Amino acid sequence: MFKNLLRIGFNLSLFNTTYVLCQSIKDDKLPHYHFLNEQDLNKLLRKHQNLSIIDRSYTEHILSIIRDVETDTVEFRKNSDRLIRILIEQAISQIEKKKHVKKSPLGYYDAHEVKFEDEEICFVSILRSGNAFLFEGLKAVSGASIGQILIQRNEDTALPSYLFQKLPSNIKEQQVILMDPMLATGNSATLALRILKNQGVKQENITFLTLVSCEQGIEKLFREFPKMKIITAQVDPILLKDFNYLAPGIGNFGDRYFGTVKKSQQSSQQQ
Ligand SMILES: *[C@@H]1O[C@H](CO)[C@@H](O)[C@H](O)[C@H]1NC(C)=O
Ligand SMILES: *[C@@H]1O[C@H](CO)[C@@H](O)[C@H](O)[C@H]1NC(C)=O
Repeated sequence: MFKNLLRIGFNLSLFNTTYVLCQSIKDDKLPHYHFLNEQDLNKLLRKHQNLSIIDRSYTEHILSIIRDVETDTVEFRKNSDRLIRILIEQAISQIEKKKHVKKSPLGYYDAHEVKFEDEEICFVSILRSGNAFLFEGLKAVSGASIGQILIQRNEDTALPSYLFQKLPSNIKEQQVILMDPMLATGNSATLALRILKNQGVKQENITFLTLVSCEQGIEKLFREFPKMKIITAQVDPILLKDFNYLAPGIGNFGDRYFGTVKKSQQSSQQQ
């Protein structure tokens, strides 16, 4: 189904750069994308034991607003933050808990709290867009440490190169939550994960959070790092081959979240 769609796309030369980027294109020529159905999603979940996709009922309203090309910066930020918070809470829910007995105002109960102190949790942002996760991340885990990795994508080759990293010196003893809003080819995330690996971080202690992903990206990451966790809000049906954009996608998340490009100039780039 996916391959057929792409083939139709190429036959009609739908996916050339002008088409994707040009804003003046007639709306009635734009393709209508259909999301993966429950069956496809369940197949994906069965294939990847360490993948979590947030329940659609929590995300479909918020994601529909975020994807909308008419959504302005204020609404884009507000709704991205809502969705990011859901992902962060999901990541926390998967961290090991300690069980002990605590007292409520009325009596005793079995408490299940995260086993680790705030300082034992590290948010690692893949710059620039991953920084959008820090606002909500720090509301949930105020004492967490923060690492940053700057990876720039070459727009011609779509290959990422690594430019800068600043990570806590004890990161290999921490629970690492790696964050990037979009998972397309998985090339940038792979590079970031290799950097973490070089620092001695075990896959088992890494959770990768991403708002919108695709099957190809998920598969690429799990091929090299099967023991980490991936949590995504939604899996988009299409990765536009020549340009590595997710479709229907969000557009350029960084530009929209950080307000660096006017709405009228928005392009479809990922970072
Ligand atoms: C994950 O982190 C915890 C806490 O630092 C550590 O005890 C555990 O050994 C780590 N897991 C692996 C596989 O290294
Ligand atoms: C999923 O992750 C766990 C722990 O991180 C690991 O033990 C398990 O083998 C992984 N599953 C697969 C299918 O690789």
